[in-house]
Amino acid sequence: MDCGQQYPVDKIIYACEKCGGLLDVQHDTDYLKKTATHTLFDSRLGTLEAPYNSGVWRYKEMIYPDVSNDLVVSRPEGNTNLYRTPKLAAWAGVETLYLKHEGENPTGSFKDRGMTGGVTQARVLGIDRVACASTGNTSASLAAYAAWAGIEGIVFFQNKQIAAGKLAQAIAYGATGVQVNADFDRNLELVREVAEGLGIYVLNSINPFRLEGQKSIIIEAIQQLRWKVPDWIVVPGGNLGNSSAFGKGLHELYSLGLIDRIPRIAIIQAEGANPLYRSYQNGLKSFEPVHAETVATAIKIGNPVNYKKAIRTLKWTDGVVEEVSDQEIMDAKALIDRQGLGCEPASACSLVGLRKLVSKGIIKSHETVVGILTGHVLKDPEAVMHYHSHEMDGIEPHYANTLHQSDANIDSLREILGKKELTPA
Ligand code: F0G
Repeated sequence: MDCGQQYPVDKIIYACEKCGGLLDVQHDTDYLKKTATHTLFDSRLGTLEAPYNSGVWRYKEMIYPDVSNDLVVSRPEGNTNLYRTPKLAAWAGVETLYLKHEGENPTGSFKDRGMTGGVTQARVLGIDRVACASTGNTSASLAAYAAWAGIEGIVFFQNKQIAAGKLAQAIAYGATGVQVNADFDRNLELVREVAEGLGIYVLNSINPFRLEGQKSIIIEAIQQLRWKVPDWIVVPGGNLGNSSAFGKGLHELYSLGLIDRIPRIAIIQAEGANPLYRSYQNGLKSFEPVHAETVATAIKIGNPVNYKKAIRTLKWTDGVVEEVSDQEIMDAKALIDRQGLGCEPASACSLVGLRKLVSKGIIKSHETVVGILTGHVLKDPEAVMHYHSHEMDGIEPHYANTLHQSDANIDSLREILGKKELTPA
């Protein structure tokens, strides 16, 4: 993406051999102008035919046009709902808010959209060992897709603060799991180093085929809006893979004439893991990694590998970056959960980040917003239980739903149920 050097798609490579920069999958725009159309993509809605029944491969022409359908590894993923949420919109201060729930993917996070691309590419390359470092969701997804493809999945975990649901998934799906006494950023360096020479294909978001799959989040959201573009897309930022994929996807949709303008992107980071926010504050002039600490363990990342691609997204989309505190994240999550939607802590950045940007006058109340919920509520049950039982360090649960204790008799139950005591919705 920096120096323009090109490599064939069947080469195993993650960084440019000339300049060391990140790689992009480069599409043939002239060819796509003829093949990628609203009519084609709409005609595949509701199809039972694989792989087009997937919310990623419905857009195959824009994701990986040449790959043989027989090689595609799909669960199938995507097809997640876009919820109109008037109560949360009012709380955030806008008239129209849609939340796209990526927790509705097969393993409960948006990572499945990238993993179908990455594991398919492993098959194209004929590789039967794939690996990643992960704060949890990537490993759950990799484990599932590797098992589905009949190849070995290898996952590196940091040895603390990994959400229970994610660790359980990786073990259950049969991945080779390694706990390493290091944080995510160091684990990612280690996995890249060890993979070389062992015939292992790395499926972190440095892998450009992952980001191709993740573009489909935004393509699908816009198709669900009948190809009408929202004013804003709000997304949590950790390793900045999604932010990068969204910018590329929107740029391509626009170049192909599939959308008539580019929406603005707001990337929301946790205050304790905010290197992009800090860089944004100084006009993107410099970038310093940070030591990451946040209750939203999914985005506990201090040195995001996709930093440069995220900057490109900010430029292409006239984007902004905001930060939110752990307190704000957990309260916003409780409100999303309370709608019956549910999400994991990192996802709640979208809602509370939106509220903050509205309060600063950056997002206007009449503007249409799509927020991305990145992971399922069951990914991190401990965060839910600790919040609602007032056991989360440094967090005051403003929307706690306290569990009642009853003796096994009617009087005790009447005493509890006689009072109407709902937490605010
Ligand atoms: N939300 C959730 C639930 C995530 O799991 C992640 C990333 C993000 C947001 C941030 O997305 O990295 O594209 O900016 N989780 C990674 C993992 C890093 O290992 O599962 P990003």
